[in-house]
Parts: sequence; C-alpha cells; structure tokens
Amino acid sequence: MKLNLSNLRFMRTPRKSLISQTRTMTQYPDPVPDPSQVVDDLICSEQRDVQIRETVEAAPASLGSPSRVLSIDTRGEQAWAHWKKLGRPKYIVAPMVDNSELPFRLLCQKYGAQAAYTPMLHSRIFTETEKYRNQEFTTCKEDRPLFVQFCANDPDTLLEAAKRVEPYCDYVDINLGCPQRIARRGNYGAFLMDNLPLVKSLVEKLAQNLNVPVSCKIRIFPNLQDTLKYAKMLEDAGCSLLAVHGRTRDEKDGKKFRADWSAIKEVRNALRIPVLANGNVRCIEDVDNCIEETGVEGVLSAETLLENPAVFAGFRTAEWAADNEKEGFVDGGLDQGDLVVEYLKLCEKHPVPWRMIRSHVHKMLGEWFRVHPQVREQLNAQNILTFEFLYGLVDKLKELGGRVPLYKKKQIDTPNLQESPQSV
Ligand SMILES: Cc1cc2nc3c(=O)[nH]c(=O)nc-3n(C[C@H](O)[C@H](O)[C@H](O)COP(=O)(O)O)c2cc1C
Repeated sequence: MKLNLSNLRFMRTPRKSLISQTRTMTQYPDPVPDPSQVVDDLICSEQRDVQIRETVEAAPASLGSPSRVLSIDTRGEQAWAHWKKLGRPKYIVAPMVDNSELPFRLLCQKYGAQAAYTPMLHSRIFTETEKYRNQEFTTCKEDRPLFVQFCANDPDTLLEAAKRVEPYCDYVDINLGCPQRIARRGNYGAFLMDNLPLVKSLVEKLAQNLNVPVSCKIRIFPNLQDTLKYAKMLEDAGCSLLAVHGRTRDEKDGKKFRADWSAIKEVRNALRIPVLANGNVRCIEDVDNCIEETGVEGVLSAETLLENPAVFAGFRTAEWAADNEKEGFVDGGLDQGDLVVEYLKLCEKHPVPWRMIRSHVHKMLGEWFRVHPQVREQLNAQNILTFEFLYGLVDKLKELGGRVPLYKKKQIDTPNLQESPQSV
C-alpha cells in the first residue's frame, strides 16, 4: 500500500501511542545513562574513529580574549561580531539529550540546518568520567557552528568541563531550561531560576575564563518583567547569545502550551546580544513567521526535526501537509526510509550509542510503524541492534508499504541542498 495524504489523515489518532513509546519534548532523557539500558548504551562500533582530541582540528572560535573587564557596549559588539562571523545561522538544531548527537546533526545540516547544539552534557560527570566524555561528545570538522551545552550548578566544575570542549565549538552553552524531575533533583536547568545569584556566577565564570563565547538557553518566567530582568542579568554577566524557549518551567507539555512569542520579542528588544527563539516551529513557514514576529536572529527546533530532519529544507510530514492540503503540497521526492538509511550510514562513520540510533529510527519511521506495527514490534524485541538488522527493517517496510514521502509546497523550487561533506 502506498501511503498518501488521505489515508494518513485518519491515522492521526494513534500517534499518541507512538509518542508514548518514544520520548516527547516534555520528557527528555536522563543525561546520565540508565543502567537498564546497558546494551543500548554500547557504541555502535567498537572502533571509535572519532576521538575528539585525535581527529578534530582545534579551531578556536575566539572572541579575542575572555571578556574580563569589557563594557557592555564592547561586549555587545563582540557578541555580534562573533555571530556575524558564523554567518548568522537562522535554522538551528535544538539541544536534545540522546537525540542531537553528531550523526543527527550532520543529517540535519545536509537538509538545511545552519548550526546545532549538542545534547545537554552533565558538567560534573564530563569532568570525572572519560567514558562519558568519549561516548556523549563527539564531533568532526564539518560539525560547525556548534553549541556545546552543559548543565551545571558549580562554576569551577562547569569551567573545567567547558575548557575541555572550547577548542571544538563556537559557544559553550548553559542549560537553564530543563524542567524535568531529574533537573530538580540535580539542581540544574530551569530549577536554577530559583537561584539567580548562582546562575550569574556560572555565566561570569565562563565569560571571564573562556576564549569562546558563552550562551544560555532559558525558559520564560510567568511574569514578563521577571523574564526581562533575568535576561538582562545574563547579558550583564557575560552571556553573548540567548536562546529563549517561550514556555514557563511549568508548561512542560509543548503540545498543550503554545510558546509565547511576544515574550521572546520583548527579550529580543531589551538585549544587545543576539537572541534566538524556540517553540511552536513545525514547518519552515513557522520559522519565517517567528523571525518576523519576534525579530530574533534564528530559531531552534527540536521535536519537529526528530520526525522530519528535513524541515529546514522546506519539507513536511504527511500530517502537516495534510493540514494544509489546500496550499498544494506534493510529494517532495524525499522518503523517510531513505533518510533513515542516510542517518545509519552517518552512524557507521561516526559511532554513537545504540540507544540514540534506536530512538531516531522510532521517530523517523513513526508513520510507517503506525501502518505496520508488527515491524515496530520486531524492532522493540531486538535487544542487540546491528546495522544489518536496521537496513533490513527499512527494506521490509518498503516491501510492505511503498514509501513514506515528505511533502513540499508545489510552487517552491527544490531548495539548494548543501553539498554535505558527509553525503553518503
Ligand atoms: C528528546 C528531547 C530532548 C531534549 N533535550 C534537551 C537538552 O538536552 N537541553 C535543552 O536545553 N533542551 C532539551 N530539550 C528541549 C528542546 O531543546 C526544546 O527546548 C523543546 O523541545 C521545545 O522546542 P520544540 O517545540 O521545537 O520541540 C529536549 C527536547 C526533546 C524532545
């Protein structure tokens, strides 16, 4: 059976069942691997060909010097100079634990993403554990511009972690937005909104001691004035770029709560440093609308990219194309199964833990699994994954169900996809 817009529309209700099997934006995974996932924690190749210190040429993205005693005007100018040097990326892969790892970043880059965040790394574990460092942070020279994100609650530990990655990235980012229980227990992420002096000291420590700029990713407060005060404090402490997720700490469910773009606009207008927006982006038109409405420099996308890594190249999944069928969406000539194959090839080249691969396969093949749940069950039953098994899974789905195309607006020309050095 060929999947098309009309037969997918009535399949939307069971979507929830898939989402509950995978992880939603409100439940991003624990950055410290769960021992019960031990098999999936294994790297997909014993041969670690991406040891950062060996294979990545250090290319410091220096601000010139740590911003020790610079005035806010000078720091603002430097922040903009750095951002412009990076080409003012508009389309950005958001940080996602277990999901914005190197192969996925490269896949998104091939389909239009202009910058990316790593998954959140736990600064203390990063400083203490070599295995965690090697497993959770890999990069390569094409993987730029890159934000490396940490969670932290101790300035010295954060600095030690940041020093290790600064030669390989364009920003060291502090996660101030994670609303999960694990963050409450660990006292990091959005729970630091209750301890702003500590947040200030984290930002200052990095700004005064790193040669790359510091960025922060925040959630908004329920009250706009609190949000503005918070953002100004971050800027004054030395933050060079601010990403604002337009939901409060309690608005965990992104499907239930719309992100508040008007608050993001106010933050953008109040600051001198570049501001990015996050929330409510489901297609490329949303990106344009967000930039127009808020005046931000660029937009981060998370959940949409997981299902559709080609969103920044103007592609939509059947669901979102069906919602706008009257606008004339047509098969864009790109298939979810082929995207999975591209992703797997990138994983063969840049090994990552199997749990990350499993998660992406679930999300990218979601539409297909809804039609052929028995194939999803085969994947779930497979404790030990291999590339052979996963390529076979895609073949099986193709034999069973034709293809799952991504859609494009009829009148838009196929975008000029970047010739990726990673093309497979
Ligand atoms: C699987 C998953 C993992 C996430 N991990 C992180 C993370 O490591 N750091 C972070 O700041 N936000 C994380 N988030 C939140 C996203 O970066 C983003 O702020 C949120 O999903 C809203 O954006 P969206 O509407 O485009 O999904 C994660 C979200 C998802 C879905």
